[in-house]
Amino acid sequence: MSEYEHILVRTEGKVGVIELNRPKSLNALNRKMIEEIVGQLEMFEANRQIRVVVIQGNEKTFAAGADIQEMMGETPLSFEMADPFSVWDRFMSIKKPLIASVTGYALGGGFELALHCDLIIAAEDAKFGFPEVNLGVMPGAGGTQLLTRLIGKRKALEWIWLGEHMGAKEAKELGIINRITAPEIVFEETMRFAEKLAEQSPIALRLIKEAVNKAEDVPLREGLTIERKNFYLAFDSKDQKEGMRAFVEKRRPSFKGE
Ligand code: CAA
Repeated sequence: MSEYEHILVRTEGKVGVIELNRPKSLNALNRKMIEEIVGQLEMFEANRQIRVVVIQGNEKTFAAGADIQEMMGETPLSFEMADPFSVWDRFMSIKKPLIASVTGYALGGGFELALHCDLIIAAEDAKFGFPEVNLGVMPGAGGTQLLTRLIGKRKALEWIWLGEHMGAKEAKELGIINRITAPEIVFEETMRFAEKLAEQSPIALRLIKEAVNKAEDVPLREGLTIERKNFYLAFDSKDQKEGMRAFVEKRRPSFKGE
């Protein structure tokens, strides 16, 4: 594996894991760290052995936001010229399933990192929130858009305006996170979930992710057309033949991603 300054990387079977590793700053995301995360995601995306990617923090925290110290001296022009948040756009090109495994704080940019993942599994004592308003600014890495799509305008405004922390239970009730576990088993549970996904056909997972994501972006008729095309496309795969043959032969399918 490559050498990184702020993340640790490992593979467990068909699952690629990116562990945030800047513990002294509660995994605050500086520019180098987010570059490392996205660069490694793209490497997992290109690796056929990897079918699912997990992003996790350490036992204490996921990430307490963008690095405030790095950001505080910026000017509109320095932001415009370096465009440091454009790196986040590359998340949209990842076609494999991404799961965030959240412990402790997922605040500001840390919450945005979790929201850029397809699924979130969190410890029951995890805390989510957008505290940017308390710094006199606002979310800048997708928070206003991603959260509003999930929970609607009124709830999103309440949260982003107040800048308070939300517990995992409330986040689950609002549909922001998928599952809650005891803190000591959150990584184990995430891996169990990831391994289940990794046994599905990677082609079907990819076609499903594309179609579901489109549901948030395009009119219904267009979305239905995309779904239909992806359904038809699945019939060009060996995985479709294997899946249906395994059903009639009453055995578990073995999907190869072909
Ligand atoms: N950036 C830089 N450093 C941070 C940080 C951040 N976002 N969050 C925590 N740290 C650092 C602290 O400065 C502290 O460093 P020192 O030990 O050197 O003083 C260390 O991490 C531990 O933090 P605390 O002592 O504050 O720990 P705590 O347990 O008392 O509080 C906390 C934890 C409530 C998460 C608190 O640290 C906090 O409020 N952090 C800031 C959260 C925040 O405002 N995030 C939004 C950032 S802006 C953003 O993300 C913009 C965007 O949309 C991209």
